Amino acid sequence: MITVIPEIKRKFQLDEIRNDFPILKRLVNGKPLVYLDNAATSQKPQAVIDALTQYYTFDNANIHRGLYFLSELATEQYESSRLKVKEFINAMSVSEIVFVRGATEAVNLVASSLSNTRHFNEGDEVIISNMEHHSNIVPWQFICEKNKLSLKVIPINDAGELDMAAFKKMLNEKTKLVSVVHISNSLGTVNPVKEIIEIAHSKSVPVLIDGAQAVPHYKIDVQDLDADFYVFSGHKVFGPTGIGILYGKTEFLEMMPPYQGGGDMIRTVSFEETTYDDIPRKFEAGTPNIAGGIGLGAAIDYLNQFSRNDLIEHENLLLQYGTEQLLSIDGLKIIGTAKNKASVISFVIEGIHPYDIGTIIDTDGIAIRTGHHCTQPIMKRFNLPATARASFAFYNTVEEIDKLVDGIYKVKKMFA
Ligand SMILES: Cc1ncc(COP(=O)(O)O)c(C=O)c1O
Repeated sequence: MITVIPEIKRKFQLDEIRNDFPILKRLVNGKPLVYLDNAATSQKPQAVIDALTQYYTFDNANIHRGLYFLSELATEQYESSRLKVKEFINAMSVSEIVFVRGATEAVNLVASSLSNTRHFNEGDEVIISNMEHHSNIVPWQFICEKNKLSLKVIPINDAGELDMAAFKKMLNEKTKLVSVVHISNSLGTVNPVKEIIEIAHSKSVPVLIDGAQAVPHYKIDVQDLDADFYVFSGHKVFGPTGIGILYGKTEFLEMMPPYQGGGDMIRTVSFEETTYDDIPRKFEAGTPNIAGGIGLGAAIDYLNQFSRNDLIEHENLLLQYGTEQLLSIDGLKIIGTAKNKASVISFVIEGIHPYDIGTIIDTDGIAIRTGHHCTQPIMKRFNLPATARASFAFYNTVEEIDKLVDGIYKVKKMFA
């Protein structure tokens, strides 16, 4: 008889968790750092920093090519990270995991490569939404121009939710791809991506999901979603910068030509003809970000210690508390009030420019984002030049939200 031993997860202890992130102990302008810009990038646990140090201190060598000890060790670590990513997002196969620089490069890879296939013909349409990050707009504009396609945009309502009826109407025989964000970085809206994929698939249209903001918060299962492509960045999920993931279903990756040429992506090269390696290596030309890949693996190991539900529960508490506290401030308006939201709160205050809010509270060590958040079309939709945005991770505390609120009162006083 086989006995299944239940996996024991680390208990959610906020103080202990904060101890894992050395930067959270630093002072900024003489005050303890209050880091509320997690949608831009997340902080790194010591385990990730140690993995990078270990690699550069003891294990540094180029991968895939050397037959000596260090090269094999580095290759083994890099490829084991790929396996960790595969399991982390529940891909069917490790060959569906392509290492890239980040979500931006992943979208560019798919757009550029598909534009060199017969997938798109003149007059075809690509659907995105009004709440996309520029990285899920501009690459499609490039190929729309090149392949003479049209870009269609799903509108949103005043709460910042997708107009699903409009989306359904938009789909037609010319639609060749839908590319939408899972969680909006400027509104916090969690989009019904499973439903979007189901609807698009009913018309045989493949779907790319920009998961840059979703992977740090939720357990992602690409098979359950049935996403054709899913992209995210390592630095937003507590890993290093300069590394990210393109997940693609085998049938698409096999059909797509390489994105860049060079070493490592080939099988044979002669001046007459070059043959390419299998997926995913076909898409990974040149020496990759080896340390970044290993660091991302360490970030996944770190997250896997916890029950993701415990992390989500704490973030939901921060979202609820933060929303209530901010709304209690006279003249403050939250932009993005979708029913289903992640821990991102964008806001404006009557008569005060968001840049002033950000700059003044920075003097108290509080870091929030101000600006258009690389989503200019959504700012235009709400007729705003910019918002202030607080975005929380599982290591944030309600006391930090209180400090943000105190900081905003200070700003209001200065502008009174
Ligand atoms: C929703 C979304 N998509 C894509 C990106 C681009 O990520 P990166 O700059 O890491 O490539 C971001 C970054 O903020 C984002 O929030």
